[in-house]
Amino acid sequence: MPTTQRTPPAAASGEQDIERIICASVLTRPQAPYAEMERIRETSMRHNQRFGIHAALLCQSGWYVHWMEGPGPALRAMRERVAGDNRHHTQLLVHHSRGPRYLLTRWSMMLNPSDEPPAEFGKRVSSLHESLQRGIQYPPTSVIRRLVAPLRVGLANETETDPEAFHRVGVCSADDGRGFDLVRWLARKHRTASQARRVAGEDDLDSGTDYVDFRQDGHPCRVIAVSRTGLRHGLRRAFLPDWGHLVLLFGDDAKRNTQLMQRVVEACASLPAHPELLGAASDEGVHARMAVAARVAGLRYRQLGLMRAEECDEAWHAVGERLALLGPPRSSQWDLTHPAWIA
Ligand SMILES: Cc1cc2nc3c(=O)[nH]c(=O)nc-3n(C[C@H](O)[C@H](O)[C@H](O)COP(=O)(O)O)c2cc1C
Repeated sequence: MPTTQRTPPAAASGEQDIERIICASVLTRPQAPYAEMERIRETSMRHNQRFGIHAALLCQSGWYVHWMEGPGPALRAMRERVAGDNRHHTQLLVHHSRGPRYLLTRWSMMLNPSDEPPAEFGKRVSSLHESLQRGIQYPPTSVIRRLVAPLRVGLANETETDPEAFHRVGVCSADDGRGFDLVRWLARKHRTASQARRVAGEDDLDSGTDYVDFRQDGHPCRVIAVSRTGLRHGLRRAFLPDWGHLVLLFGDDAKRNTQLMQRVVEACASLPAHPELLGAASDEGVHARMAVAARVAGLRYRQLGLMRAEECDEAWHAVGERLALLGPPRSSQWDLTHPAWIA
């Protein structure tokens, strides 16, 4: 499959390059992990701000994945401090690079209530750790995805060699839950299961995010439902530049529609690339207003057509046509030998 490789995004003007570290470690007490993560969030919010460190903490199958970005010396000191924490052990480095920040907020976290055994998760950690030692590493978002959300559709044939080449389509609705309905509908249609995650930001309670993997016209495709709150999280925003499209399901409430677009504009601010916005609304006037709001913010907006948010069939048919028109999915993979790597 033809894929284009990207180079790491350039630093935003005025910002110094920072270092990025991702470590995986084993939880000492895997019971009630969310309560422990909330305690870690509380201390981290205090310390990280002082040192200019932004962090994301993920927990799955008895493992933590800790992604930190900040000025090199402070970041490495923080890594050592965290390594001595008896709430985890066997800390392994799986990514170390230099460049602009991916994490634009001080803290975000994700819990995956997966029933995958710790040893299986550990195999993916070892593989990334060993390849880093051999001088091969992957972009931060790729490392996180490989660890916590490997694509659930296998590679179709020998020409499909790049695991980062798949359609990524986000979906968010003005009315609660419509995006999640679309993901569940797609899961039923493709006779597969959707995956659920709990996510939280700097100070909010946790909210959900669901995704489903399937093949669209033969190409691997992931559709991710996000709540409006979820759009604010640093972890979510770090992945937005990899997404080709974000489907926005508008409803009948003008205020909620405007709020959704505002959230999208805020989420995309300062990102090196934005998904194309695909709007579904039952009224031409909504499309017209949203297209203007998107254009003012420098975002691309395209109408999926006139339809109600609950018309999953129609919405997905229109998305499928757009994907087919654009051709094979592009890769989010960087050049694996880029000099920004610190190995
Ligand atoms: C997986 C994991 C990740 C952590 N991440 C951070 C972090 O990003 N920033 C931080 O200050 N503390 C973090 N901590 C907590 C530190 O290990 C340590 O407990 C804390 O910095 C001590 O703060 P105190 O001296 O104010 O009690 C983390 C702990 C664990 C187990």
